[in-house]
Amino acid sequence: MKATAIAPSNIAFIKYWGKKDYLLNIPMNGSISMNLSNLLTTTTVEFDMKYAADEVILNGEKNSQRTYERVVKHLEKIRNMADVQIKAKVVSQNNFPESTGLSSSASGFAALTLAATKAVGLDLSEKELSILARQGSGSACRSVSSGFVEWLDGEMNDDSYAVTIFPADYWDIVDIVAIVSTEKKEVPSSEGQKCAVVSPFFQPRVVRMKNKIELCKKLIEKKDFTRFGELIEAEALEMHAVMITSVPSLLYWTPQTLMMMKQVQKWRKEGLETYFTINTGQDVHIIAQKKDETVLKKKLKELPYIKDIISNEPSKGVHISSTNLF
Ligand code: PMV
Repeated sequence: MKATAIAPSNIAFIKYWGKKDYLLNIPMNGSISMNLSNLLTTTTVEFDMKYAADEVILNGEKNSQRTYERVVKHLEKIRNMADVQIKAKVVSQNNFPESTGLSSSASGFAALTLAATKAVGLDLSEKELSILARQGSGSACRSVSSGFVEWLDGEMNDDSYAVTIFPADYWDIVDIVAIVSTEKKEVPSSEGQKCAVVSPFFQPRVVRMKNKIELCKKLIEKKDFTRFGELIEAEALEMHAVMITSVPSLLYWTPQTLMMMKQVQKWRKEGLETYFTINTGQDVHIIAQKKDETVLKKKLKELPYIKDIISNEPSKGVHISSTNLF
């Protein structure tokens, strides 16, 4: 009873911030994302009578306080679905830094959901996997389906899940992640989300989200990079305006984040068409057209405050791997 899954992280163009239901992770609004080809979590799960308790090794760290309970809660759900009470060993590896704004909980819970359900003998549909992954971490539901994805917000457990709106090869855009620091953020998204409603900008944002989603889908369909870029950069700033004006205020940017944001806007003025988007963390996602990737990477490497860059294309969603981690 062992299985391994690989899941991509995803970058939200229209973002999820604030929930209708905090236990089930039902979002206040729908969101749109793209799966990222080079931000990957690989997870192996084995259910076996030889384990007296669940064992969770994430990036070499055993039963870490930060994640153990969350993972075990997810395993419990899966055990209940399969009607088994066998304990499990989970080994999970990210190929990128965690807790810096690169959404390792999205790839992490998508990979855990597929590996654990397969290992326990369940054969879930894409929709069922998405619903289950969502309960581990909201944005994980978007890492299940391939390519460009929409999370249909829904009202209840069974109607809040993500679907592919365009396949990975539909549009050749790239997401170059600029790592400005590998320091871990102080407030995880799951905590930060709870503060959203007190921002005076939260309600005005929520009422505009349906239109934004429709517009974003239309611009992807038309491959209108300029209007798409303008929309997603403004959307990232709007979400951060809500975060900054929450109580307590959530300011995820560092001086280097801000330098990167200004640099992207400067490049744009000079004719290199790029746009930024940022999640809960200091690292910056730079969205560009594939034709500009080489020159953009060269320019990024010249900036002294950039620690690393990770280049991503739109990718497939979670899938089974034949190579186990143990
Ligand atoms: O799924 P969570 O709880 O990690 O929240 C993700 C929130 C953002 O990354 C900021 C936005 C999004 O839609 O991915």
